[in-house]
Amino acid sequence: MELLDFLRSTFGKDALIEELESGFYSKVMLVSHGDKAVVKLFKDREGMRLSVDSATILGRRIKTYHGLLRDRGIVVPERLDWVIEIDSVTNRPHLILFQPYCGVSAGRILLQGDVVTCRKVTVGILNTLEPLFATLNELEDLGIDAKADNFTTLGGPYTFVDLIPPRYSENGNFLIEYPEPKTEVGRSLGRWRYYSREGVLTVLLTQLARIQSKLLWEFVEVIEEWLSSRCYQKEVDYLQQSTHEISSSLIENSKNPVKLRLFMCALASRNGTSQTEVDNFFRLTHFEDVLSDKVINKAQQQLISLCTKIVH
Ligand SMILES: Nc1ncnc2c1ncn2[C@@H]1O[C@H](COP(=O)(O)OP(=O)(O)O)[C@@H](O)[C@H]1O
Ligand SMILES: [Mg+2]
Repeated sequence: MELLDFLRSTFGKDALIEELESGFYSKVMLVSHGDKAVVKLFKDREGMRLSVDSATILGRRIKTYHGLLRDRGIVVPERLDWVIEIDSVTNRPHLILFQPYCGVSAGRILLQGDVVTCRKVTVGILNTLEPLFATLNELEDLGIDAKADNFTTLGGPYTFVDLIPPRYSENGNFLIEYPEPKTEVGRSLGRWRYYSREGVLTVLLTQLARIQSKLLWEFVEVIEEWLSSRCYQKEVDYLQQSTHEISSSLIENSKNPVKLRLFMCALASRNGTSQTEVDNFFRLTHFEDVLSDKVINKAQQQLISLCTKIVH
């Protein structure tokens, strides 16, 4: 059955159906039928084709992740249901998720671009993250993708809506992506960026700066204030070093693409580097498992050249 036919048969033929911004993993539809529901279709593509068994495992894990986040105190959509639907044309299974509509994304709000709004959004996301952030380095059992687009609001607290792929430790096996990274380096990078305080902060800051690069130092300041008021001194030092004290040797010693992006945001804002160049750098450093040494070297060389240009 086509997705639209499926939605009409589920919600009635009068339901209003529109597409929301779809992410990497899912096609996202908003269905208005009195209530508003969000329907996510897991994108079935090369390299991540689902069988009924793998779709069932993924659906169960998403449900578990939703429950674990809620129990930790993270604001998540109130309900989460999933079904497997067999496509009558291709005979392949589709994994479909249902959540209530939880408002507009932080990424969308940030586009307004005024300083006060951007500061408020940043604090809003941090407040939603807070219960998990507190346990990240201690329990290491639950992870999160702290991208601004993954947090939405109806005016009140931000809800974390992105449950695909689930990120939690299942009997010591850390779920990271779908499919899982194949290399050890890919797995440890994934652990760092979703399951550690440094990683989560780096994802948050780089993704905020990507939307509003001219406000980078506002974001840094708000995050540092938030961390300081909760005594996360180590994390404040980390952000200070990775934004204010970038040196050639710091760059040379980092092969982590997410950290390199943070250096880029900070160096670009001091050098007046164009947004296009920053975007190109983000594209260059996009990875799903690992980046080749050649790409890492190229990224490091670009950063070192920016670093030496800075007039102090
Ligand atoms: N429950 C929801 N309420 C409102 N908007 C949502 C909801 N779920 C997703 N969205 C919007 O759709 C976008 C993509 O959904 P997401 O679950 O993050 O998919 P992906 O894993 O592909 O990034 C989100 O960034 C958000 O803007
Ligand atoms: Mg997302």
